[in-house]
Amino acid sequence: MLSHLLHLSGIESVVLEARSRQYLEDRFRAGVLEQSSVDLLMSTGLGARLQQLGLVRHGIHFNFAGARHRIDFDDLTPGRCITVYGQQEVVKDLIQARVNAGGDIRFEVSDVSLHGIDTAAPAIHFCDSSGNVKTLTCDFIAGCDGTHGVSRASIPATVLQIFERAFPFAWLAILSETPSTSEEPVYSYHERGFALYNMRTPRITRLYLQCKPDEDLAEWSDDRIWEELCIRHGTRDGWIPATGPILQKGITGMRSFVAEPMQYGKLFLAGDAAHIVPPTGAKGMNLAIADVRVLARALEQYYASGRTDWLDRYSATCLRRVWKVQRFAWWMTSTLHRFNGGNGFDHRRQLAELDYVTGSRAASMSLAENYVGLPLEG
Ligand code: DHB
Repeated sequence: MLSHLLHLSGIESVVLEARSRQYLEDRFRAGVLEQSSVDLLMSTGLGARLQQLGLVRHGIHFNFAGARHRIDFDDLTPGRCITVYGQQEVVKDLIQARVNAGGDIRFEVSDVSLHGIDTAAPAIHFCDSSGNVKTLTCDFIAGCDGTHGVSRASIPATVLQIFERAFPFAWLAILSETPSTSEEPVYSYHERGFALYNMRTPRITRLYLQCKPDEDLAEWSDDRIWEELCIRHGTRDGWIPATGPILQKGITGMRSFVAEPMQYGKLFLAGDAAHIVPPTGAKGMNLAIADVRVLARALEQYYASGRTDWLDRYSATCLRRVWKVQRFAWWMTSTLHRFNGGNGFDHRRQLAELDYVTGSRAASMSLAENYVGLPLEG
């Protein structure tokens, strides 16, 4: 996305990617786009497939204590809603756009190392897909290489402050070939734990189930998964997910993580390289898109005028949003999951929280504005 935005401003970039194009395009990830992410994709020429395949959704549901409650975005956040569109579809659109524009993406690179990031002439050493050792020199390096990438690890540990929170549970995720029974995402809180339902296409559904962090997938037969999903989602109005063949199963970890600052010298961290949010609320990709928009604008300013004030403020600008989104993802996660079996107090407090957030207009509006996404700055 950053490379695409820079290209639109006439700024040259090279993308170094560890994986193959095929891997990136096939890997199934979360799939909820905030309004600002949709607006940015649309306004930068990436809207064709998004408009055709994306599912615009005007609400979400919360199931708890046997009842279903709808949060209505049209009423609470007029003009702002979400679009369900798989992250790997966004990746496909981005790669295609860069390739069509003659962009320089090197897939399957390895042994990447960063040099001179605090000097005027940073460089990257890497092996290309044929194993040839290469060096790239550049003005700036954007570290968009995820939490395990080399970028953050290249910043001296003494410079970084790390803020972290672990959660005592994970998600069991499935992809199923089943006709959808709810057009809008359903978040369920149940004594037995959290469950989430979302449709991806009229025939493909994506469901998640709170499980132990070290859960053994072998203990989860398809029947057991569906039984558990139906119990946790079940309400007195009789709604349950339709069951069907399970195409994929996996375990998704949960943690909150922020590294500050997001810049060191000529290296700018973006997305998961700088922060991880727990998946409840599907904020990860949206936050990464927000980061690179700030970075693209700051680089545009630099190349247009030589000024560095937006680059200097990059970390502070991004972190204001990062921490608000951390707060929201933490709130969604802690309100909707059972903690270590939980106790009676927490259970009743969480039910009260959900009752309040679905019953009070002020609280629903706060939830909705965070869910559809806070506006991008500037
Ligand atoms: C999806 C994932 C999420 O984490 C979420 O909160 C909502 C939907 C999804 O994959 O569809």
